[in-house]
Amino acid sequence: MNRRYRKTVIAGNWKMNMTASETKKFAEEMKKIMPRAKWCDTLICVPSCNLSAAVKAFKDLRISVGAENVYFEEKGAYTGEISADMLKDLGVKYVICGHSERRQYFGETDQTVNRKVHAVLGAGMSPIICVGESLEQRESGITEDWITLQVKSALFGVSADRVRRCIIAYEPIWAIGTGKTATAAQAGEVCSAIRATIRALYGARVARSVTIQYGGSMNPKNARELLSQPDIDGGLIGGASLKPDQFVEIINAANQD
Ligand code: 13P
Repeated sequence: MNRRYRKTVIAGNWKMNMTASETKKFAEEMKKIMPRAKWCDTLICVPSCNLSAAVKAFKDLRISVGAENVYFEEKGAYTGEISADMLKDLGVKYVICGHSERRQYFGETDQTVNRKVHAVLGAGMSPIICVGESLEQRESGITEDWITLQVKSALFGVSADRVRRCIIAYEPIWAIGTGKTATAAQAGEVCSAIRATIRALYGARVARSVTIQYGGSMNPKNARELLSQPDIDGGLIGGASLKPDQFVEIINAANQD
């Protein structure tokens, strides 16, 4: 973390979990244990059908609400899809773009991720852009090249002004939901490479202002060490964000120096 130049952001990604009623219960539990002062921004990305319930339930907790996906067209005959303006109108502040599960199961590509990033920024929200390598790619030594390409593609055509509003989440695919975490050194190294890519594209001042998160089995036990890496400015948390006590422990880890 480096709070002098950029925000620390702890984000939950609930994936396809939690009903609207469970969201309300979660918020009630959180009210009992949430720290009063926070040095980090906190948000939870929830399934689209629960966005309104989450905005209402999390308001007093100062937890912002994010969506897990968006469609890049403004409006029209796209049955089942949701536009950036629709999300914005509900009070959504962040949108995950290009999570590896969407790339793997729903045909998301670097090109569609880029279009989504533009749509989210255009609507005045912040995209959380997910990048990450598979185990095969790590083992064949192409992690950095792969991640650099993903970052460059996602940010293609994005102005320096707008890139400051983007969050990049480094999520090694082999660490998602597996209980296997990248070591702090491995995660720190890739997050530094991401910042170097942003520096090459936009210059040092912009690069140092962008929040870069780590995601992939982050939990109360490993959060502090991961967050102590200079280029890791927060976490994108799946499983542990579904449990109020664990999520709060991670927030507390981000609250320390
Ligand atoms: P887990 O924390 O459950 O590994 O999920 C990480 C993730 O995919 C967050 O987007």
